[in-house]
Amino acid sequence: MRLTHWVLAALLTVGGMTPALADGDAARGKTLFSRCSACHTVTDQNKIGPHLSGVVGRTAGTVAGFNYSKGMVAYAQVWDDTTLDTFLSGPNKLVPGTKMAAGAIANPQDRADIIAYLKTLTTP
Ligand code: HEC
Repeated sequence: MRLTHWVLAALLTVGGMTPALADGDAARGKTLFSRCSACHTVTDQNKIGPHLSGVVGRTAGTVAGFNYSKGMVAYAQVWDDTTLDTFLSGPNKLVPGTKMAAGAIANPQDRADIIAYLKTLTTP
């Protein structure tokens, strides 16, 4: 890549973080999902957390048979790029009292990649 292209790409990357969300790489997100899979499946089975198949477009706190916190049931927003990005950057800040005690992701690109992967998961 020529230097001018590199500088341009770097500027776009920095500029792309606020307020627009970074573009996600689903293949990388699948690997990063190892940070979630202790608690979440991508099938129809709940574990410590509710299953995440079909989570994008789903209303928070609505998987049948999962015992959500009161905070998550009260939150009741649809999971999309923005709500997922905010939740994953600090679960307790978006949903006070959430039972999701781990899994916060500080790196915006990592969040975008995981969200891109979540989008590939179809409803069971
Ligand atoms: C230590 C276990 C744990 C880890 C690790 C974890 N989660 Fe969770 N997650 C939970 C629990 C428990 C809930 C239910 C929260 C509640 O009821 O307040 C939850 C809820 C969620 C929800 C809301 C689902 C719904 O049906 O409304 C999403 C989205 C989510 N987690 C994504 C992730 C992602 C993505 C990761 C990895 C980056 C992750 N979680 C890591 C335990 C975990």
